Amino acid sequence: MKLTKRQEAELVTAIQGRGEVPLKFAYLGEGAGKWDKIAKDRSEGGGINSVEGNLLKKRINDFISTLNTSKGVNLVDIGCGNGSPACPIIEELLSRNIKVTYVPMDISSDMLELSTKTISQKFEGIESKPIEIDFELGQFSDVMYDIKQNGSVNLMIFLGSTLGNHSDLTRVLSNFRDSMTSKDYLIVGVELTNLTKVSKIIPHYEGDNVKNLVTHTLKYLKVDHYEVEASWNEKYSQIEMRAKITNPIEVQVSSEKFTLEKDESILLARSIKFTEYAVTKLFSDVGFRTELLTTSEDRGYILTMVQPTRYSI
Ligand SMILES: C[S@@+](CC[C@H](N)C(=O)[O-])C[C@H]1O[C@@H](n2cnc3c(N)ncnc32)[C@H](O)[C@@H]1O
Repeated sequence: MKLTKRQEAELVTAIQGRGEVPLKFAYLGEGAGKWDKIAKDRSEGGGINSVEGNLLKKRINDFISTLNTSKGVNLVDIGCGNGSPACPIIEELLSRNIKVTYVPMDISSDMLELSTKTISQKFEGIESKPIEIDFELGQFSDVMYDIKQNGSVNLMIFLGSTLGNHSDLTRVLSNFRDSMTSKDYLIVGVELTNLTKVSKIIPHYEGDNVKNLVTHTLKYLKVDHYEVEASWNEKYSQIEMRAKITNPIEVQVSSEKFTLEKDESILLARSIKFTEYAVTKLFSDVGFRTELLTTSEDRGYILTMVQPTRYSI
């Protein structure tokens, strides 16, 4: 893992200011392989990637027929992971002889490599245009504008319930909204939770693969003595993974030094749990109109296709 000067500054500020190690850094370097293991687990029967993939396949016709595909589609896979979740969409576009350019967008160059490899192995000859970007830092309309110079349409996808990992959902979604024209579409996949049964999902966060990923940045900081715990935060409606420091340690990042005290609790990851009402309200409040919305049979997963609202109604 290698952080830029800016990322180091963001990391130190987040630890000292909020007691948080932002999860996004965990995906850098070997973190990409650590995520790949989790993604493979989640693709097996009942895992959220498999539920999402089935729902996507079921409703793919509706999603695609909404688009003007005559000049081709740029599939912008925001937070691409290993690229697998994009496959059902690419498969369907190609089967209709629609030209597809795969545009994985991620903070991690290793993840970009992984996703490009997945897609090029599965779909021979497909063009990929990977973009290394931190989408939390601001809008990226320049990138979105560049890729559609030939008259093609941008279809952005934000899958795998990644939305729930962010502290400021409005900021992330506003960055997406401000990067889109009124012809672009965004598909977001989010896990829904019955909030009365939330204690049952805590064990999903206690496996070794998840722990390996979320503690990746602690290893970069050379922090070795901690216990990882998953718990439910009622106030923010989120599962939290925290490291409880068991031995005090002086941490050095660049020229900055600080101490993590024994029993200090550092937030490593959050997974906000949504209801259908909360998701639809969030998109509407940020300034998106909903074109399509579909939920899995057991109401455990929602896919929504949205566009920026041009006029407030
Ligand atoms: C939970 S994984 C989901 C991956 C994939 N979409 C899936 O459904 O399997 C989150 C992905 O978003 C990327 N990511 C997280 N925060 C990011 C940020 N601020 N900017 C760019 N990429 C980010 C991670 O590197 C990772 O690939």
